Amino acid sequence: MIQDKLWYKDAVFYQVSVRAFKDSNGDGFGDLRGLQQKLDYLSLLGIDCIWLMPIYPSPLRDDGYDISDYCNVAALYGNLDDLKSLVGSAHALGIRIIMDLVLNHTSDEHAWFKASRSDRNSPYRDYYIWSDTDQKYRDARIIFLDTEDSNWTWDEKAGQYFWHRFYSSQPDLNFDSPAVQDEIFKVARFWLELGIDGFRADAVPYLFEREGTSCENLPETHAYLKRLRLFMEKEFPGRILLCEANQWPEDVRPYFGNGDEFQMGFHFPIMPRIFMSLKKGRADDLREILGRTPPIPEDCQWCIFLRNHDELTLEMVSPEERKWMWEQYAPEPGMKLNLGIRRRLAPLLDNDRRKIELINSMLFTLPGSPVLYYGDEIGMGDNLDLPDRNGVRTPMQWDDTPNAGFTAGKPFTEFVKGDLDYRHLNVKSQLLDQNSLFHGIKKMIGVRRQHPAFGRGEMQWVDTGNPAIAGYLRRYNRERILVLNNLSESQQNLTLPAEHQGSVVDLLSDDSQLIKSSLSLQPYAYLWLKYDNG
Ligand code: BGC
Repeated sequence: MIQDKLWYKDAVFYQVSVRAFKDSNGDGFGDLRGLQQKLDYLSLLGIDCIWLMPIYPSPLRDDGYDISDYCNVAALYGNLDDLKSLVGSAHALGIRIIMDLVLNHTSDEHAWFKASRSDRNSPYRDYYIWSDTDQKYRDARIIFLDTEDSNWTWDEKAGQYFWHRFYSSQPDLNFDSPAVQDEIFKVARFWLELGIDGFRADAVPYLFEREGTSCENLPETHAYLKRLRLFMEKEFPGRILLCEANQWPEDVRPYFGNGDEFQMGFHFPIMPRIFMSLKKGRADDLREILGRTPPIPEDCQWCIFLRNHDELTLEMVSPEERKWMWEQYAPEPGMKLNLGIRRRLAPLLDNDRRKIELINSMLFTLPGSPVLYYGDEIGMGDNLDLPDRNGVRTPMQWDDTPNAGFTAGKPFTEFVKGDLDYRHLNVKSQLLDQNSLFHGIKKMIGVRRQHPAFGRGEMQWVDTGNPAIAGYLRRYNRERILVLNNLSESQQNLTLPAEHQGSVVDLLSDDSQLIKSSLSLQPYAYLWLKYDNG
């Protein structure tokens, strides 16, 4: 394994729902051993780091983001030895593993909460936020709008209200308690000692509450997170913290601190704008948000993504843009959820191979480290009959045998139905077909890995005189790569300024060519061109 401390800047991440990936023991649930069996597949795809969604014991009312024991693995997924074995095998293949660290809240079935609600004198009472009134912190918004009508829930046992930013089965921890602060350090240490390479820190804006504020991004939150980083830096250098803060770039910027808080942060607002650019056939919105994105410290990195396990969130757009996105991408009522769209990548793009490839071309070439959501590399579909976000969390489609090669038992959920079901779309057939989406994505990842400009370089928009083309230069040291994406459904001509003409290698086809002032791109075509003199 390369010991470069900045490994995350070049890395391609792959997000896995263990439950939905591969079942090794026939109980119908994916598990850690199943994932281990599929490491060769991930290695072939070429990813650098797996992001494991929560594998902790949990009543699974929020798919494991409701933790009932922080220092264990849910029996459904295996045990701690299985995890150690998975980490060992992954490391042997040069693949790192980060996992979700859910700091903000626990499950209401966690022993801390049970003790807290049952006894006012318990040392755990103070682990959560109790109140006689539900009128405090009125300026904090509700996040799960479709299911919750307040951030306070009355608890009979406790005789008080408790505070929660997500489901009422997920009470928020009280970070004003030094004991809570220490507990999370202990949890982090536990997993880092086991060999985990870092954490995707879940829902970090909400750790502290203060009257008269939105209870998001508070200075106390940053101070705590800096301490967490310092501890990791001292005792586990090279391990990373990735920030999940669904906020505007200027509000995420402080989570990087002076390079002393998070190494990485998701860039949420760029995601809907990539989809907007494709539908509008123009890159204006993308340019606007990148222009509004402040620089970050040298050793830090954005993470960009197209889809994940949640709804395609539209929190970071204006109300008008949200309405427009819903009209364009969620025409049926069952497709909306909270402030978003509960669909997978391929169906969002009409399962049009050209659009799917083009959007991935942007994912792999825009500034930041890309995060792929499992199954999107083969263009998996969704199942809108399943409630909440479960429709985008269906089992991985390995082959066309019964139950998709996912399980020998009774699967925990339904599969995707229709044209994109596992009989029509699966890993096995795509591996055999050199022209499949899988091989297209594998190629992009392979090219990206060989060119540090994508992970580390600066980006400069190139004026092509045609608004339908998203053209930009990525540059690092002497390496210069011109990326051209035709966002429109028709052929487009463009003019290249003199400074961008010259002899290039088309990195995706390996052809050499001389690019002059005018170029033409087929509908939804994309080019990654590396200058020879680089
Ligand atoms: C995760 C969600 C989860 C929520 C509460 C998020 O930001 O991505 O899946 O429901 O945190 O833990």
